[in-house]
Amino acid sequence: MHAIIGGSGLAKLADLKLERREVVRTPFGDPSCALSFGTIDGVDVVFLARHGYGHTIAPHQINYRANLWALHHVGATEVMAVATVGGIREDCGPGTLVVPDQIVDYTHGRKSTFFEGPDNPVTHVDFTQPYAEPIRERLLRGAAAAGEAVLAGACYGCTQGPRLETAAEIRRMERDGCDLVGMTGMPEAVLARELSLPYAVLAVVANHAAGLGDSRQAISIEAMGAVMEAAMLRARRVLAASLRDTQSAAAR
Ligand code: HPA
Repeated sequence: MHAIIGGSGLAKLADLKLERREVVRTPFGDPSCALSFGTIDGVDVVFLARHGYGHTIAPHQINYRANLWALHHVGATEVMAVATVGGIREDCGPGTLVVPDQIVDYTHGRKSTFFEGPDNPVTHVDFTQPYAEPIRERLLRGAAAAGEAVLAGACYGCTQGPRLETAAEIRRMERDGCDLVGMTGMPEAVLARELSLPYAVLAVVANHAAGLGDSRQAISIEAMGAVMEAAMLRARRVLAASLRDTQSAAAR
């Protein structure tokens, strides 16, 4: 079964034919919300709203472990996650859709592993390629099928939030090789990896990162809202087409 994690601007999946909701409890606490089960174009999907259905959970307060554990527990075999980001690289302006291929993690204090505690041997997962290539490729094929332009390949820098960055922090991230900046990409990606759940992200650029383009003086939260509304519609089309791609791949 396919799991979709929705971020800001995607607390509900309009295209999801909802069949049931299920509250899942986990050894790591409660997920952000009840899981929604249903179908999109006949494909089975489980959906989770990362910030809760009312968008009340800040990025640093999300229980990423419970979220990923719950999806795995109910039988998800892969995850497509949607994430809102700021654009650093010049071609990543507001409204751009991107399937990143790398991560730099600037977060701190988040619970970022399942492998801890007295009964757990220390385990180091390989994370050289943080996203699952087959899921990335499917998102890119879905985008092509839906006729939506999507950039392939970018480095996602994950900051702690919930505040936005300073201009100097963005300049540093640019020097570090980051193309996008968001607050929720980690530890979500590594926890999926620890569970051997293939995982990839469809990033939606809401704004120029701090100090860049029209965010030179400040980031306009209002402008972000308008951009997101249009861009999320396109992101949903990409997701639906990616799911259809799964189905046709299974039939091949
Ligand atoms: N920075 C961090 N996270 C974000 C941004 C940003 O500029 N825009 C949307 N999410």
